[in-house]
Amino acid sequence: MLMFAYLAATVGLVQGLKYMGEPAKAKLGNQVAAASVLVALAALIYATGRAGTANLLLLLVLLALGTLIGNMWSNRVAMTAMPQLVSIFNGLGGACAVVLGLNQVFGQATPMDGKLAGTVLLLTNLFGAVAFTGSMVAYMKLDGRKLPRPSQGQKLAARVLLVVMVAALVYYMAWPADAGAFTWLILAISVLALLYGVYFALPIGGADMPVVISLLNALSGVATLFAGLVFHDPVMIIGGILVGATGVILTLQMCVAMNRSLSGVLAGTFKGGKAAQAEGEQELRSITAVETASLLAFSKQVAVVPGYGMAVAQAQRECFALQEMLRQQGVDLHFIIHPVAGRMPGHMNVLLAEANIPYASVKEMSEVNNTMEHYDTVLVIGANDVVNPAAENDPDSPIYGMPIIRAYKAKQVIVLKRSSAKGYSGAVNTLFDRQNCKVLFGDAKASLEEVINELKRI
Ligand code: TAP
Repeated sequence: MLMFAYLAATVGLVQGLKYMGEPAKAKLGNQVAAASVLVALAALIYATGRAGTANLLLLLVLLALGTLIGNMWSNRVAMTAMPQLVSIFNGLGGACAVVLGLNQVFGQATPMDGKLAGTVLLLTNLFGAVAFTGSMVAYMKLDGRKLPRPSQGQKLAARVLLVVMVAALVYYMAWPADAGAFTWLILAISVLALLYGVYFALPIGGADMPVVISLLNALSGVATLFAGLVFHDPVMIIGGILVGATGVILTLQMCVAMNRSLSGVLAGTFKGGKAAQAEGEQELRSITAVETASLLAFSKQVAVVPGYGMAVAQAQRECFALQEMLRQQGVDLHFIIHPVAGRMPGHMNVLLAEANIPYASVKEMSEVNNTMEHYDTVLVIGANDVVNPAAENDPDSPIYGMPIIRAYKAKQVIVLKRSSAKGYSGAVNTLFDRQNCKVLFGDAKASLEEVINELKRI
């Protein structure tokens, strides 16, 4: 019965993940996954109940507390602060693995049976502790908290700690050690790994943190997998494999979409960088909201390329209003999404879905990139790097080689931004040098409201 419930929960989790891959089924996927976790929890409550009333009461109280705090937290968090929340939840998963590992050594009357089990337990604590402190530093960085400035010393400290931990693991596996020595070893590895997590995450650039969070997420999955092996718990093993594997895939996909190596992200460096340092202000041709509105009104096919700035301005509802307004005037509007637009995977998809923008009008970059010249006007709303033609034709650009949305091929391009500031990579955006590109200066939400008001008058 118990095993059947765990199996059902596992199948549900896999199916939920599968649904989340399709925008139209993403919500259902979330519900299926949540229901599967509920089934697993019900099975856990049943199993704990059989083990004694005191444990059952403790479990129920802790579950109720966790549910309450998690619910309140997730409901309050702003969309732009979602990576921070994910980071904290990740870190707590790692911390749980560490506590479970320590409990196995200090809370059990029977000593560890065998080198293999001991090694797996050490790895549980190593991965869990790195995921915990690394995620906490990532959270603080993304939240703009004051932290020591990145330095070479931190990178060196991380390397030394890693070597010491690997040496300790090899020593444990190769030489006989008694139960007393194991107790000290697991304590030492846990403390060193906690420190390593801090020194690993500190030197990494704040904006690279989404990639690192995904990697730390994978590490917390691996820690859960190891803990599952120690406790012979199939749900932990399968859950750990799913989190670990999806975390690694996501990390690598993000790197590919940004044309950066994982080692480059971890070392906090951009390749090239000549263009990033180019001095002297670029001349940006400006356009007014009134002119933008008339350009849109006389277009047949319009595209919006949303980016990080749309998330900052929270302009997704105005995007929907603009789409509706243009639809009434016989103008078709598509949204084109770049895989790394914004600061987290699916950032733009989530925001557009929140504003009830129909899925049919949301296009992947690969769907439309070869036919961009069909668009009369492209509105680039708070995006920068993802439309920078330097990625295609300037080998000196830090983003050279990154696939971009070819907005420059449209008849007219209007970029909504507040200033002449560069994007996340710091690369000079050569889109602004093109004759067909103009900038509508201002906060994206305010600018869109003005454009919509003008359209109402036309
Ligand atoms: P960015 O290149 O970062 O450009 C964002 C633009 O938004 C800036 O030019 C900024 O200019 C503008 N902006 C900011 N606030 C605004 C507001 N309130 N109103 C109007 N404009 C505003 O963004 P992108 O094009 O979306 O590219 C994403 C970048 O992040 C890529 O380089 C990608 O590699 C990186 N990245 C992505 C991810 C994921 S998974 N999505 C993870 C890590 C890194 P002003 O300041 O002048 O307004």
